[in-house]
Amino acid sequence: MKRTVLELRQSKGGRLVMLTAYDFPGARLASEAGVDLILVGDSLGMVVLGYESTVPVTMEDMLHHAKAARRGAPDTFVVADMPFMSYASSERALANAARLMQEAGADSVKLEGGLDALPAAEALVRAGVPVLGYIGLTPQTASALGGYKLQGRDEAGARRLLEEASALERAGCWGVVLEMVPAPLARAITQSISIPTIGIGAGPHCDGQVLVFHDLVGLFSGFAPKFAKRYAEAGALIRDAIARYAAEVREGTFPDAAHSFDMRDEVLKRVYGG
Ligand code: KIV
Repeated sequence: MKRTVLELRQSKGGRLVMLTAYDFPGARLASEAGVDLILVGDSLGMVVLGYESTVPVTMEDMLHHAKAARRGAPDTFVVADMPFMSYASSERALANAARLMQEAGADSVKLEGGLDALPAAEALVRAGVPVLGYIGLTPQTASALGGYKLQGRDEAGARRLLEEASALERAGCWGVVLEMVPAPLARAITQSISIPTIGIGAGPHCDGQVLVFHDLVGLFSGFAPKFAKRYAEAGALIRDAIARYAAEVREGTFPDAAHSFDMRDEVLKRVYGG
């Protein structure tokens, strides 16, 4: 049964399970496995489209993948990422969020940034768009943060993250993702706001957890951060299956009778002789 925004907001203190998905089979598997939320993340730029970062991902990319994920999981709450620059002004944010919800069927949008993202977050909430905030290591602006580094380690950084989480709550976000934040700070942020926190690289004290699908199942062979726990080696499994297929085709053992269709001899004789 699909969660409502109200239920998500009220799930403070629970353990929300969120997983990214970018296509029909991935979303279907996630939904069959019982996740609470699917995130069509702009991480698709790296794990699906082969870019170096999330920055090149466009609105058209997001719409294309969000539509497929929606079809794969019609009964699961789907959050779609607003890609880089798609919420650079409140007007753009409204127009692009409308597309993600109306064309792709997303239930909520996620946008990166704390104080900088407030005008867009506020405008969206005012217009009735459910918004998930995102602070800490925000990949779209990772180079300005000095790369993929732990955030909020020093006093100024920690204060800023606490302040940003409260500001996003006041702006009306239903939850906040915390990425690459020390576990004790994530706990303090979680205790200091009344909306759920969803962690990724933020330790065990958040109200939920998110992982990237390809990291979880072992489909991404690029850099894997410390927090990306692998639960399967699907890449190795798939590579082995393809290699066996190639070998069988080359040695003539596939396709065999079990994977072929027969017909009556007399019909063939009538059309081909012999
Ligand atoms: O794009 C994404 O997949 C994300 C997660 C890492 C939270 O934002």
